[in-house]
Amino acid sequence: MIPDPQFNIWEHSANVRQLYARRAHGLDEMDAAAQCAAILAPHINQALSPPSFLDAGCGSGYLWHSFKSRGLAMEYHGLDYSPSLIDIGRSILPQYGLPAERLVCGSIEDIHYQNFDLAAMLNTLTFCPDFRQPLDRLVSTGARVIAIRDNFGPETVMRWETDGYLDEGYNHLKAYWNQWNITEVKDFLAEYGYESIELPDRRVNGAMELVVGKPYYWSWLVAVKK
Ligand SMILES: C[S@@+](CC[C@H](N)C(=O)[O-])C[C@H]1O[C@@H](n2cnc3c(N)ncnc32)[C@H](O)[C@@H]1O
Repeated sequence: MIPDPQFNIWEHSANVRQLYARRAHGLDEMDAAAQCAAILAPHINQALSPPSFLDAGCGSGYLWHSFKSRGLAMEYHGLDYSPSLIDIGRSILPQYGLPAERLVCGSIEDIHYQNFDLAAMLNTLTFCPDFRQPLDRLVSTGARVIAIRDNFGPETVMRWETDGYLDEGYNHLKAYWNQWNITEVKDFLAEYGYESIELPDRRVNGAMELVVGKPYYWSWLVAVKK
């Protein structure tokens, strides 16, 4: 289910490309990336071989810096369906030690026959038409811990709207900007044998944030396999 890049909002923003290139150089670390490293750190046993980790919806793969800079050794793999963002990561991250082939262009919905010890999905589930198919594929990796940051609230709100901040000529493109009922997501993950706890987001701490004019209630679900 890779969208034709022609209709993919992530392929049409010079601002996003510049920002994702800066982050691939290890600059402008997001609070969410730092929090993700803090959430997963207790699940990384430094005495054992580095766990394999999947960053689903990785952009250019900059989350890798957040683990590396904290001395958290892991075998990082990034997956994203936007070819230009993966290309940015592949051209920049090897100079910081991440092999280019660890960044793969593909959709989360197509993950198959791949095992990972840990996984994260930051700021990405909201852009999916539904949470079930991508999470079904994510849990198929067998990851023992999955950290998800998303627009979670008391109810599901489906939004199919324009972005409005894209390159000239592309502002007619629409995307999903969904909010998910957190209880439904927890119950769904429980069916796969995961116990999920909710954590406040360090940056917004329960407050609403406008993302290109749409209300976002960022918080975390940390799903641990029982
Ligand atoms: C807001 S960006 C988040 C990037 C990064 N995780 C972060 O937190 O900064 C959303 C990313 O998800 C990717 N994406 C959205 N839906 C996807 C899907 N179904 N499969 C793979 N990538 C997806 C987009 O291409 C985009 O790079």
